[in-house]
Amino acid sequence: MATTIRNVALLGATGALGTHIRSALTKAGFVVTAIQRKDSTNPVPSGVKSIKVELSNKDDLTSAFKGQDAVVSAVPNPALATESVMIDAAIAAAVKRIIPSEYSTNLETPLSRQLPIVKDKVEVREYLQSAIANNGTSTTWSSVNNGPFFEMCLKVGALGPNIKEKRAIFHNGGNHLIGTSTLPDIAAAIVKILDPTHLDETANKPVYIYSAAISERLLTKLASDVTGIDFGDVESGKITDLDIDNMVAEANEKLAKGDRSGWFSYYYQMMYGKGYGGEDFEKLSWNERLGLRTMDEADIKALIRSIAQEFGVPVGSNTNT
Ligand SMILES: NC(=O)c1ccc[n+]([C@@H]2O[C@H](COP(=O)([O-])OP(=O)(O)OC[C@H]3O[C@@H](n4cnc5c(N)ncnc54)[C@H](OP(=O)(O)O)[C@@H]3O)[C@@H](O)[C@H]2O)c1
Repeated sequence: MATTIRNVALLGATGALGTHIRSALTKAGFVVTAIQRKDSTNPVPSGVKSIKVELSNKDDLTSAFKGQDAVVSAVPNPALATESVMIDAAIAAAVKRIIPSEYSTNLETPLSRQLPIVKDKVEVREYLQSAIANNGTSTTWSSVNNGPFFEMCLKVGALGPNIKEKRAIFHNGGNHLIGTSTLPDIAAAIVKILDPTHLDETANKPVYIYSAAISERLLTKLASDVTGIDFGDVESGKITDLDIDNMVAEANEKLAKGDRSGWFSYYYQMMYGKGYGGEDFEKLSWNERLGLRTMDEADIKALIRSIAQEFGVPVGSNTNT
């Protein structure tokens, strides 16, 4: 008989991504229990059970995971010290699937694995794999990697257009395709992974997904089409085109002195740097196998429109623009 997942314990259920995972799982018929920090004051919606525990206490977590079929984590800044406890507890409670808090761009290439931004996530992945192998357990793992959060990029102007400030910035010419994902699409991927149809094929594998393949130049054009903002161009000097190697060299110098203000540059390195794996997102993608959507230009414009409206930026009335 095929393995089925019904009860899902979700860590980070009240967070930016966790909220979407919780709602997608509930809508798909899973029974979600939010595993919250002992002192959390974040409310969960009525109908969702919450268990508050010390996340560093293995015994408490093991009791919280008893009877759960899967443990999904969406905690921020996952570090080995706490995530290893979660993993040990999930294995002790004999859950069938563990999904750690990755949600990054690429954790597979030797170059990306050395980046300081994912050092902790790589350690957690390695611990998870060895804990499962060494315990002779039937517990399996999957991870989800999705590229940059699309809504966040549009809100802060991280990939081309900054709608709020009516300016744009490119990196390495602005033509590279980036695989970026919306929070509901990441949540939809988790639902698919836990569905009996895909549970076996996703066992012990990193699952790569993307909602849209987009360049900074095209995203800037679409944002201009939707809002009428003239972002200008690189040639006239209105758009700055940044060199990522320079950004990273500066970030390295700062980091060596304990200054983390260049931290964000490493995300660009992972997305754009040759050999870092950001460019492999289409090759690695599970979109088709899992039956996940890929956004077309109309979908992307709809997302731009909703974010512009959130910022009170006027948008054209024609939904095709
Ligand atoms: N690819 C991207 O562009 C991108 C962008 C942002 C984040 N991420 C990744 O997505 C994952 C989730 O991040 P997020 O931004 O959604 O998380 P978040 O909103 O900051 O927080 C998620 C929830 O985690 C719980 N939590 C557990 N330990 C915590 C701690 N030490 N401090 C604060 N909250 C804690 C809290 O829930 P309770 O109060 O209920 O316990 C909180 O509401 C992380 O792996 C992160 O690195 C990826």
